[in-house]
Amino acid sequence: MEGRYDAIVLGGGAAGLMAAATAGQHGRRVLVIDHAPHVGAKILISGGGRCNFTNINTAPDRYISANPHFAKSALGRYTPADFIALVDSYRIAWHEKTLGQLFCDGSARAIVELLLAECARGRVEIATGHAVRDIGHADGRFSVTHGDRTATAPALVIATGGPSIPKLGASGFAYDVARRFGLKVVEPRPALVPLTLGGDEMLFREISGVSAEVIARAGKASFREAALFTHRGLSGPAILQVSSYWRHGEPIAIDLLPDRRPGWLRDAKRATPRIGMKRALGLPERLADALVERLALAGELANIPDRALEGAERRLADWRFHPNGTEGFAKAEVTIGGIATDGLSQKTMAAKSVPGLHAIGEAVDVTGWLGGYNFQWAWASGRACGEAI
Ligand code: FDA
Repeated sequence: MEGRYDAIVLGGGAAGLMAAATAGQHGRRVLVIDHAPHVGAKILISGGGRCNFTNINTAPDRYISANPHFAKSALGRYTPADFIALVDSYRIAWHEKTLGQLFCDGSARAIVELLLAECARGRVEIATGHAVRDIGHADGRFSVTHGDRTATAPALVIATGGPSIPKLGASGFAYDVARRFGLKVVEPRPALVPLTLGGDEMLFREISGVSAEVIARAGKASFREAALFTHRGLSGPAILQVSSYWRHGEPIAIDLLPDRRPGWLRDAKRATPRIGMKRALGLPERLADALVERLALAGELANIPDRALEGAERRLADWRFHPNGTEGFAKAEVTIGGIATDGLSQKTMAAKSVPGLHAIGEAVDVTGWLGGYNFQWAWASGRACGEAI
């Protein structure tokens, strides 16, 4: 069977469905091909099942890319307010959780249903459950064989995401397609991912389950959010955020007591000389135990010299962990790297060297912070592409 379309979108995730709906509503005949049995699998599990669908603080500096300017155009033309208006038009209730993060009050399924309804308005065809067997390109048309069907179109959109969470069917397929057409790929690596500890720091695994609000730093990036100790190392929002900036071999620095001013331990010693170091920290008990053991400063504050207290303050404000790795793509929320932006138009997401080829969403080398930024990129890049095809 053969079908002729104006555009074929590979991948029915956040970006692909947005691009398809947009192009369909502009009168284009669009086919979405997804190998999974149902579209939008990552949307369904996102945000703990409530989909953190955007962030009202979206700005280009919250995205990581070899070209930090690339995302500006699409993000500027389709903003969080635009997506909120769409969500409101479907009467989907939502709330701001923290730090500008917007979540559905109910299930993430409402967002998938919104996208499917938008696709239906644009008469988009969706083919699921068959792997792409072959992609050809001749005489200005792309042909895609999936199952026993072949579809052709003058436009092909790569929207199959990145390799994070392979058990959901994620793979490096987008990179294979891009390379086949001569596009470059920035080395993909797991991001928004827990970090693992080894060596002496394995001892911190014993306090698995303990969390505290910290400032975590890697390179020039710093995030004030919760950190969580796990049986493999470190997780929690602050750690996931810095994981995107962390490089193997580098330490991450953690301010364990971000509200304390310099001199606070000496002041505590004057005010309450009889309390012990552990209590003075005011941290969860098992964390305080672990830190005091490593600081080797047990006992009452009155018996600890001021210089030792100052040294402890400095260490607590800049505690160095030396991760030996990450929990990898199996646990990564997103992928850093991907299809190189220098081969793409920032206005249309079209490949500069292959007329009709586009790449959008997580497949592209644009990665947002934790907190709804990645979906906003998927919506914005999908929209930019959908308007252009
Ligand atoms: P996406 O991965 O959504 O879609 C790709 C589609 O392509 C899938 O439907 C897949 O089946 C299909 N596909 C893959 N390979 C294929 C092939 N070979 N042939 C055909 N089809 C193929 N972000 C955020 O902003 N807020 C949040 O709350 C969360 N929460 C979250 C939780 C978890 C657990 C994860 C793993 C990720 C998040 N994210 C997130 C990140 C967010 O899910 C992600 O950035 C977007 O889904 C990316 O959208 P895309 O459309 O680019 O890819």
